[in-house]
Parts: sequence; C-alpha cells; structure tokens
Amino acid sequence: MDPSTVKIFDTTLRDGEQAPGNSMNLAEKVRMARQLERLGVDVIEAGFPIASPDDFAAVQAIARECHLLEVCALCRTLEKDIRMAWDAVKDAEKPRLHTFIATSPIHMKHKLRKTPEQVLQMTKEAVSLARSLCDRVDFSPEDATRSELPFLYEVLAAAIEAGADTLNIPDTVGYSTPEEFGQLIRNIKEHVKGIDRVIISTHCHNDLGLAVANSLAGVVHGARQIECTVNGIGERAGNAALEEVVMALTTRKAFYNLKTNIRTAELYPTSRLLTSITGVPVQANKAIVGANAFAHEAGIHQDGILKERSTYEIMRAEDVGRTGNAIVLGKHSGRHALGNRLKQLGYAVTPEQLAAVYERFVRLADKKKEIFDADLMLLVEQGDAQPHEYELKDMTVTSGMSVKPGASVVIIDPEGREQKATGTGDGPVSSTFNAIDAICTLPNTLTEYSVTSLTEGDDALGTVAVRIRTKDGHTVSGDGSDTDIIVASAKAYLAALNRARAVQNLKIHPEKPML
Ligand code: KIV
Ligand code: ZN
Repeated sequence: MDPSTVKIFDTTLRDGEQAPGNSMNLAEKVRMARQLERLGVDVIEAGFPIASPDDFAAVQAIARECHLLEVCALCRTLEKDIRMAWDAVKDAEKPRLHTFIATSPIHMKHKLRKTPEQVLQMTKEAVSLARSLCDRVDFSPEDATRSELPFLYEVLAAAIEAGADTLNIPDTVGYSTPEEFGQLIRNIKEHVKGIDRVIISTHCHNDLGLAVANSLAGVVHGARQIECTVNGIGERAGNAALEEVVMALTTRKAFYNLKTNIRTAELYPTSRLLTSITGVPVQANKAIVGANAFAHEAGIHQDGILKERSTYEIMRAEDVGRTGNAIVLGKHSGRHALGNRLKQLGYAVTPEQLAAVYERFVRLADKKKEIFDADLMLLVEQGDAQPHEYELKDMTVTSGMSVKPGASVVIIDPEGREQKATGTGDGPVSSTFNAIDAICTLPNTLTEYSVTSLTEGDDALGTVAVRIRTKDGHTVSGDGSDTDIIVASAKAYLAALNRARAVQNLKIHPEKPML
C-alpha cells in the first residue's frame, strides 16, 4: 500500500447500523453497499454475522455483490464467531475478517471476566484461526485508549505474529483527546514488535465530539486506515464521520500530504441515500452534508462570496456532489433527459425502473415547477417500495382554528385490499396517524418527528422523518416526502410501520449479542 494513501474502512453497515433507529433490511444494506463501492471506500464492514441470521445473510449478499472492494465481517475471538463470519464473507472477491477482544482492565475484569493472560491467549488463537481461513485479518484491542500500554503492545505484537495485517485501535468510549490519541498511535509505532509489517487503523467514537479530530491525529502519527461511517452514525454519539475525515484530508492536502481513494463527488449522494434508507435526518449544520453546510446567510458573507468565492468558502459544493442547487429538469423534460441525469447522479436504472421513475417524475412535475437533483434522488429511492407493504393511496385532512382536526385515509394493505379509516387528534398530523393506526394496528410510541425542506422554492418537497418504538422494543425510523407535509407525514409513518412489520416478521430480537 502506498504510504501516502489513507485507506477508508467504512463501518456504516456494522457499527452504524447498531445505533438505534438505523437498522436496515437486506435489500437496503445491499443498496448502501453498492453506493459505498461507487464512493470508492477501500473496505466495507458489512456486518456481524453471529448477531442474527439477518446479519449473516446481509454480509453474504454484499460479499457476493461487491467485487471492487474488500468486504469484511466482524467476529469476537470465539471460534464459532470466526467460522460463521468466514462462512458469510468467503464468497467475496477480497474477503476480510475483523476479530476483536477488549484489553482494558475495566473491560477485562467486569465485562469479559478474564485475566490478561487469557485475553492474550484468545488473541493468538483467534487471529491464527482467522488467518488460516482468510488472507486479510484485522485485529482490534477493544477499549484500547483505556488499556495499559505494556499489555496493549504485547497483545498487538501477538496479533501480528499470528498473522493480522491490520491493527485497528479503537477509542471505544470516545474518551481520548487528539493529543493523546496521536501519541498512542506514535507509541504503538515505536514499541510494538513487527509493526512495520502491518497497517495501523483508527476507530474513534464521538462521545466528546472528537472522533474526527482523533482519527486525523492518528494519521498524522502514522495510522494509514480510518474506520468511519457515513453521516457519523454509530453507537451512542456515533463514529468518525467519513465525509468529514475525507474532506479534511482533501481540503488540507498541503497540511496532511496524504490522499484517499474516495470520489468526493459521491459524498453527498451517499449521505442522502443513507438518510433516505434509515429515515434519520442529518442536522442542518452538519459539516459537508448538512443542509446549511454551503449556505451563506449573513449579508457580509453573501457580499464576499459574490465578489470572490474563496472569501468564505474553503470547499466547493460541487466537489462533494452537491449539485442540488442546479435546476435540472422541468415538466417538459423527456424520459431520455431523465435517464441521463439519473446516470450522472450514479443510478444504474433498468428501462423498466426508468419508466416507473418517469411516471412519478411527471406526477411531481405537475405539482412542482422545478425539479432539483435532490427531488430526483427521492423519486428514485422511494420508488423501491417493498411489495406486501401498506401503501398510502389517498387522504384528506381538515384542520384550522375553528374546526376539530380530522383525517381520512385510504390505504392499500399488504394483501392488496383497499382499506379506509378516519381519525381525530390534536392536529392534522396526529389525526392522520390515528387514522392509519385504525388500519395498521401495530401498537407503538412515536419517539421523534421532524420536518425538513430538502429542496428549494415555495413548492419544495418537505421530508418528514419519524421514529417509533414498538411494544416489543424495536426502534425503527421512516421518512416520506411530498410537497404537502401532512402527506409526507403519512408516508413517513407508514414507512416506519412497514419497517416495524418487517422486523417483527423476521423475528429479529431487539438485543443483538453484546459487543
Ligand atoms: O468501538 C469499538 O471498539 C468497536 C470494535 C468492535 C472495533 O466497534
Ligand atoms: Zn465502535
């Protein structure tokens, strides 16, 4: 590996997917994996196969689908985990196994209930077994940043000796600071026997908001792989955000003198795809991919930008794939123009899919004068409705200051029957949800509801994201877009209910094995 290249190891489908509300079904994971391949990540951690039959199936499907990058499966240092991870990933062109065990006193004593000697022995055996199955093996000493250095060095040296080609250093609880984390990587480089034969990787959590800074400090001191996730999703406060580490290395190339293999113009489409799949919105001021990341509101800033762009802009929106400001198509655009634009946006659609998207495009163009890239992406992504789901056919709402809010909905149920119901509530949204509940009958609590405008103009498409918790403990999200936000709300709620139904039908247990 060229020492001036930093490998990007994406764990959106594993660490990211573990976070509440971010679960994805198999088709969604494969769709995301294809986009990550288009983005140019070097490795995808596709899942944790021992966690559930679903995780296994998703890793296997991605291993068979993605040929350009390494597909990695996570496993503890247990023989059954390693063998199952290998079974899931072995069909990949470039399979990889990632095995981990905690090395900090606190984790060894309270979680593992193992002595350091046992942990060292388990590391040796696990890495040797993984290496006997697979040529590419990552090893992670979990909670490395709270581990005692001499023991950490010993475990890492044993992992190298047993055949690991990458040592991933997790700041599992997001406790480190950039100075400390950089120093830790430097110490590992200086003290671990055999370290020159392997790549050092970082895996930083964001509990103190330092995940990106810590990852970058790691590469300054010799790490050449960053484990990260799209939109920074992941356990608790999340992981280092892929788009942020990549754009820091790209924009400040003169400082870091390093590069990645990422096609930066795919960053925004990737972020959007994830949002649309999980229904979890990105905060407006999020770097690189937030709605305001390239918006200039203050008069002085606007004036500066108009005179000379570089006064207030350090990156170009186009470079991260934000061409959403350009008007691309309107009512009179034909199917051919639509097909071309979808291709430029990275969608490989079959003629049948193009015909279906075109139909939705024409319907939207009737309501909305200007169609932006973001509109098109929503049209494509929402077109993949799974069969056998509840689908909104029609709805009407009454609301106002002097009428009692009410809604009536017409829904096609999974058996294809048209069902009608009415509902009342405190406002038009709760009335709509109550009407939907009368048909879908899936008891749940609404835990989050948000509205964002994703496109521009008075007739912009609003996107509603909802999160619900079902009676049996699953948290699922859904989103929906429409020029009418009550209709968008109904679509979002139905998307979440469909997802909850799918999770229940698969009998996934809400608690996966503990990491
Ligand atoms: O945060 C962590 O320590 C992990 C490991 C499994 C690498 O996710
Ligand atoms: Zn993690």
